[in-house]
Amino acid sequence: MKKSVLVLGLSALFFVSCGEKKKEEVKKEVETKVETVKEEVKTAVNSIELGKKLFTEKTCTTCHQADAKVIGPSIKEITKVYGEQKGNIVKFLKGESPAIVDTDPGQVAVMKANLDSFVKDMSGDELAAIAAYMRSVK
Ligand code: HEC
Repeated sequence: MKKSVLVLGLSALFFVSCGEKKKEEVKKEVETKVETVKEEVKTAVNSIELGKKLFTEKTCTTCHQADAKVIGPSIKEITKVYGEQKGNIVKFLKGESPAIVDTDPGQVAVMKANLDSFVKDMSGDELAAIAAYMRSVK
């Protein structure tokens, strides 16, 4: 009788400590995930900030305003169409996919002149940052 109580007690202890260990593991796992997400958010925020800076420095703002059409379509119009048609802004900027927002040949030529001059010298990261910034404009 005494022995079985002891065994029961020990096994209870064993399960409790096992549970504790599991809890620690889960806690660590969650903490690691939270850190990863934090890093991802930080990277995304940095990318948007870089994109915003480039959008002004590279004169995109001359033709693209947030809400109103100036020479080119507004940023919101562009991201709306790209969202609806699951387009890829970076691909367009790299000259790998055709215009889908304003397909008027005269208008396309105006934007194409930018792609062929200074946009082609921008890095993939810079183009991704610009696309991230454009998508962040609400
Ligand atoms: C001289 C004016 C001008 C400048 C500067 C300019 N754009 Fe454009 N952009 C246009 C015009 C006009 C269109 C409409 C034709 C078209 O959609 O391709 C356009 C269209 C676009 C589109 C939509 C393409 C599509 O699928 O129809 C994107 C994205 C874009 N511009 C991004 C940029 C970025 C990023 C910059 C800066 C690096 C920039 N533009 C600079 C005039 C300009």
